[in-house]
Parts: sequence; C-alpha cells; structure tokens
Amino acid sequence: MIIGGSASQNLTSKVASCLGEELSPIEIKKFPDGEKYIRITGKVSEEMVVVQSTGYPQDENLMELIFLISNLKDLGAKEIKVVMPYFGYGRQEKCFKDGEVISAKIISNLIENAGAAELISLNLHENSLKDFFSIPVHNLSAMPVIAEYIRENTENPIIIGPDKGAVGFTTEIANILNCDSTYLSKIRISPDKVETNIVNVDDEPKLDISSVEGKEAILVDDIISTGGTIVNATKILLGHGVKSVDVCCVHPVLVNDAVIKIYSAGVRNVIGTDTLTSDISHISVANIIANKILELRD
Ligand code: R5P
Repeated sequence: MIIGGSASQNLTSKVASCLGEELSPIEIKKFPDGEKYIRITGKVSEEMVVVQSTGYPQDENLMELIFLISNLKDLGAKEIKVVMPYFGYGRQEKCFKDGEVISAKIISNLIENAGAAELISLNLHENSLKDFFSIPVHNLSAMPVIAEYIRENTENPIIIGPDKGAVGFTTEIANILNCDSTYLSKIRISPDKVETNIVNVDDEPKLDISSVEGKEAILVDDIISTGGTIVNATKILLGHGVKSVDVCCVHPVLVNDAVIKIYSAGVRNVIGTDTLTSDISHISVANIIANKILELRD
C-alpha cells in the first residue's frame, strides 16, 4: 500500500499508478492554532510506502512525515519504506562554521527513529547524507528522465553545470545523449549571492568557449533556490554566443521570484521534476521511484 503526505500527493498518485496500486486515503487538516491533524483512513498492510517531500514549509512537512511513519507503525505496519523525493535541510550536512547545527543529521535521526526501514530519495545534495542512517538509503538519479526531456526538445545541445558540484549530473546526461558537457566555476558569497566565472585554465574539463558558440546550452543543477546560480551562468553563456539557454533541475525549490529572474536573464525554458510541486515541475520521477520500489520488493 502506498500513502502520500500533503506535499507529494500528485507524485504519489503517479507512483501508485505505475505500481498498479491504489493510493491509501488519509485525512489531513489543521487545527485553528496551526497544529496538524492526521488520520490514516485506509487499510494498513505489513509493507507500507510513504511518500513525502520536505520542501517549504519544511518543518510542517517533516512533522507530517514523522507522524505518518509513527502512526503506520502503531497501526501494524512492519516494513515502512519512506520516499523523500526532496530531502529538505540536506544542504546543511556538515559544520561550515563552529557551533552550527548539522540539520541533515538530526532530520535523518528523526526519520529513522520514527520507524523507517528504508529510505528512497533523489539526487541528495551530498551522497554522504547516507552515512547519517543505519538503514539502507537509495539515492536515485533523475538524470535519465531529464536527459530524455533534452533529447526530445533540443537538436544540438551542450550540457553545462553552473558549478563544479554539477559535474556528476552533466557527465551522466552527456553520456546518455552522447554530447559534450562542461561546467562553470561558482563561489558562494552569501545564501542569496554567488559569483560565477569561466573555470581556471588548470581545471579540467575546461569550458572551451568555441565549443558553446551556436549551440543550445542546457544548464543542469540539482536545486534551483533563489535562481542566482542560474542567472549568473546564463549571462556568461549568452555572452559567449550560445544559440539559447535552457535550464533543467531536479528539485525546483524556487524561492520567491526565482523563475521570473531566470526568464528575465534570457533563458528560453526552465523545467524541473516533480520531486517538489511547482509551476515548472513537468518532468516526472514517478517511474524511477516505482521501479526502485519494485526492485526492493523482489
Ligand atoms: C548548490 O550547490 C546547489 O547545487 C545549487 O547550485 C544551489 O542550491 C542553487 O541555489 P540558488 O538558486 O539560490 O543559486
């Protein structure tokens, strides 16, 4: 049986349909003071799958997930597979400054202690997040479905990472599409300010400017939050004669007017997957999740 939290209802129904299963009904409402009321009204089987992303409002969605896991245990579920398509707080996975809370570790402990037997997520910000868990964690990649979107919508693409951290994504897509890829260099100045440059001559692979000219540049990143990273990269690419810039991301976090900022910078199209619900969540990861669930059940 599969159950979806309020942050992931659409995606959960798609996963259920890929699995040929019915979505288990739940009742979620808010008390007048803002606290959540949750009731699982459907049948609870020994094996349950719970799907809930923990994007904005992060704390509320997380609390809902903990309630659901814990309630399923109380109602007799023995094996709870937790699917967090987007793992909120995943970017604070270490102490960058003395005294900081390692939020990702605390979230991991909460999920495991609530009763999760296994966790499925997509493109965790750092693969090392897995180390916070003692249960199996499956960090799936959305790149195959993003690559299919690019194949269907471009003729002569070059895949660009807006920073070095995106090289894994760009390489994976370039291998699937058999096209070129490269990346830019980014320094984060503050949570909403970044500086982007062409990579140093010593870095490999270099951004060969002549190789982008006239091509359809596709920027690929795991997260678009404020949009600053993408805006900077777009300006550089347009300044070097690309035919167009399209943007694909896994997790459309999209703070405030991020999408408007991106289009204003000259981007032709921006699209994300449905790990988070948004106006640009048009590529579905439902099949990727459903296939993993089937594999784990074998
Ligand atoms: C950071 O390393 C991530 O991969 C993204 O590049 C980042 O979260 C994007 O943030 P923003 O949209 O605020 O520039």
